[in-house]
This record gives sequence, C-alpha cells and structure tokens, in this order.
Amino acid sequence: MAETPEFHDRMLSLGLARVSEAAALASARLIGRGDEKAADQAAVNAMRNQLNQLDIKGVVVIGEGERDEAPMLYIGEQVGSGTGPEVDIALDPLEGTTLTAKDMPNALTVIAMGPRGSMLHAPDVYMDKLAIGPGFRRGVVTMDMSPAERVSALATAKGVSTEDITVCVLERPRHEDMIAELRTTGCAIRLITDGDVAGVIHCAEPTTGIDMYMGSGGAPEGVLAAAALKCMGGQIFGKLLFRNDDERGRAKKAGITNFDRVYTRDDMVTGDVIFAATGVTDGSILPGIKREPGVLTAETILMRSKTGSVRRMTYRHPLDK
Ligand code: FBP
Repeated sequence: MAETPEFHDRMLSLGLARVSEAAALASARLIGRGDEKAADQAAVNAMRNQLNQLDIKGVVVIGEGERDEAPMLYIGEQVGSGTGPEVDIALDPLEGTTLTAKDMPNALTVIAMGPRGSMLHAPDVYMDKLAIGPGFRRGVVTMDMSPAERVSALATAKGVSTEDITVCVLERPRHEDMIAELRTTGCAIRLITDGDVAGVIHCAEPTTGIDMYMGSGGAPEGVLAAAALKCMGGQIFGKLLFRNDDERGRAKKAGITNFDRVYTRDDMVTGDVIFAATGVTDGSILPGIKREPGVLTAETILMRSKTGSVRRMTYRHPLDK
C-alpha cells in the first residue's frame, strides 16, 4: 500500500490562501445587501469548490454544522482531491454574516489546516474565551481570575496603568455584568457586534491597540482563533459552555468527556497549522474587498505556525477572465 504523504505546510499554504480568497470574492456582491444567508451560501460554495481542487485528503472538523444541518462543509465532510496528505480543516466561510449583510467592519473568510488529529473537534456550543497577544509569560492572565483581576494582571505585566489597557468584548446582554466590572478598572473596551475570530486576532496585532479579548462566543470560532494565535504568538484559553443536554450530547458526540476543561491554545490546536483569512468588509486586520470597474481586489493574511511567518497578499481578480 502506498504511504500517505506528509503534511507539507509550505507547499499547501498558497492553496489555502486561494480557498480563503475565493470565498471572499464570491461574497463580495452580497456585501450590504441585507441577505445573510445568500452571502454565507456564496462563500460556502466557493470555499468548497476551491478546497476540492487541493491535493489533500481533508476532513472538515470545524465547519458549517452537523451533517443533518449543513448541506455543505459539514463536520466530517471529506474534502480535497483525495490524493495527498491526511489533513484536518477548520473553516468559517463567512465569519460575520451579519457584518457582511450590513456592510459593517471586520467580516472575514477564515480557514485553517493541520495534520489529521491536530484540531479540537469543538461542538457548536458557546465557549468562554480569554486571549492576549505574544510576549507575556504563560498564565499571566487565567480563566480563574475575575475580569477586573485580568486587567490588573495584564497592566502589571505590561508596566502600565489599567487605564492603558483595551479589552475587546462582543456586545451582548450576557456580557453586561462583565462589562460593568471591567469599567471599574478604568480600562477601555472595544465593543464589537460580531466576529470574535477577528476580536481575538486583534490582540496579536499591535496596530489595533487591543490588549485582551474576553467573553463567550462560538466554540468553533475559538478553535479558529487558537489556530491564528498559534501562528502569530499569544495565548488563548477556552471553556465550553453548555445550556442544555442537547449541547452536552453534541460535545459527547465530538468525543469530549470532560465538560469543565479549560483548553489552552495548544490543546485546541496540537500540531503545526496554516491559517488564511481574507477581508470581506474593511476591518482592523484586513481591508475588505475593493470593487472597481472590471476588477475585484482582495487582501489575505497567510500564516504558518512552524515558522511564525505572516504574509499579506493582495490579489487582483479581473472579472472578464
Ligand atoms: P456568524 O457569522 O457565523 O453568524 O458568527 C458571528 C459571531 O459573531 C461569531 O464571531 C461569534 O463567535 C458568534 O457569532 C457569537 O454568537 P452570538 O451571536 O450567539 O452571541
């Protein structure tokens, strides 16, 4: 029997950027059209089509939902040409469907790839998340600390006052108490309406001015964010949150037995990974798709955890070809 080829992250990375680009380009004509479903569907179709052109034996571990809920890119779906290395794929063809439909900042297409078995099979439940950028000792902030304690600890580690810390939080009623406690420290809070993969990445990108991300959002997005920080440096902690037995059942089905576990970045992504994201709408990390007569322009960030390399690539897509 022929040996399965190894995961050559370098060789596959440009292909992954193309997958992310294709999804963003496909959703471009739906930016600001008020139709979340159509925007998502366009991105899903394009992502799947491009993924299937890669020489991989891929399995979607983070995808559009369970097989009975999602017609495409469902968890467990096999993607790729079927020849090549066995890989796990985590994806969100349109991270920020509402942001896209309303033409609001920070909508992205996102995909990560690693060797088979390298990514947590996170069920579609909420995850309590805490993230900071690179350069701090491990555990400088922890899930056990209160929100205010985390701000103080990070301020001390940075040698600044708590007023100089900026925390990014999803604006949701469930976060009101946390936000009220954060306010007591005098820190600044960047409230975002959606898109916590970008929210976490902000911490590792100094130009955004964001130091820390906290609060609950989708668990699949937590794994994607962990993949990004594995490439950029930085820490993320995540704890799955269950609202009912159905959600616990989903976790069990995904092979999770310890429901109280706090996952670190390297628990969520255990091996080398490549990560690509393309801007759909303008944001703090990436500009969105630019539309000019006859041409679409997309910018993609492409990163590899093995080397810590971060590339920004601009793609001009002529519409008449
Ligand atoms: P979608 O684009 O898939 O709708 O996700 C957007 C998002 O804001 C994620 O970034 C975040 O993790 C999740 O939704 C938060 O969930 P909720 O809107 O239920 O608070």
